[in-house]
Amino acid sequence: MACDAAKDVAGARKGRSAVVLMVLALAVGGLMGCERAPEPQEKAEATEAVVEPGDEAEEEHDEDHAHDEVHLGAHMFEIGRRYSAVWYAGEAGNKGMVDYQIHEIEEVIEELREAKPVEEGIDVVDYFDRSVLPGLEKIEEAIEAGDTATFEKEYDAVIAQCNACHTATKHDFIAIGRPQFNPYPNVRMDAD
Ligand code: HEC
Repeated sequence: MACDAAKDVAGARKGRSAVVLMVLALAVGGLMGCERAPEPQEKAEATEAVVEPGDEAEEEHDEDHAHDEVHLGAHMFEIGRRYSAVWYAGEAGNKGMVDYQIHEIEEVIEELREAKPVEEGIDVVDYFDRSVLPGLEKIEEAIEAGDTATFEKEYDAVIAQCNACHTATKHDFIAIGRPQFNPYPNVRMDAD
């Protein structure tokens, strides 16, 4: 019965919403195990209907990333993880780990340097050079001096820089804050 209903809806192909209904009907039909292979014509239309709404945004995105040879999100994920570790190591006064994580963040930036990713007209590496990297140096200095209050202040100042760029590149939904937990479950951040 459900299969018949699915076919009925699929049959009522008028306008775009009907095509969407048809896709749903096919999906439901498929889930119910109905043996009804869509005719090639229908299949093409269905695919089009599914992809259509995102088409424009997709093209824009592609244009944006036309010169990127890197997966920026993956690099950012690493930066985010390492910057979380900086917090725990810094709170524990673990200078070795703070320096190590900051060095690794700098290496990620170096990897990006050649690819020169540009997001919404913003040169990502240049932005890091001017805002985030000097902030990371201040963090190292604070830890070197054993000054936790300054460390926390500078840590938050860098977060503000991260978020300023996320806003500038239309990614303000990626809001960085102090971490909720140590991203390295088996590394003692206080061992120095
Ligand atoms: C120059 C601009 C810029 C700066 C500075 C910047 N980000 Fe990003 N960040 C981005 C963009 C753009 C994306 C989205 C990447 C994409 O679309 O692939 C992103 C994505 C992210 C993500 C999401 C990664 C994922 O899982 O997909 C995290 C986490 C992140 N950034 C952390 C940080 C942290 C932490 C800092 C500061 C230490 C920072 N970012 C500084 C531009 C920036």
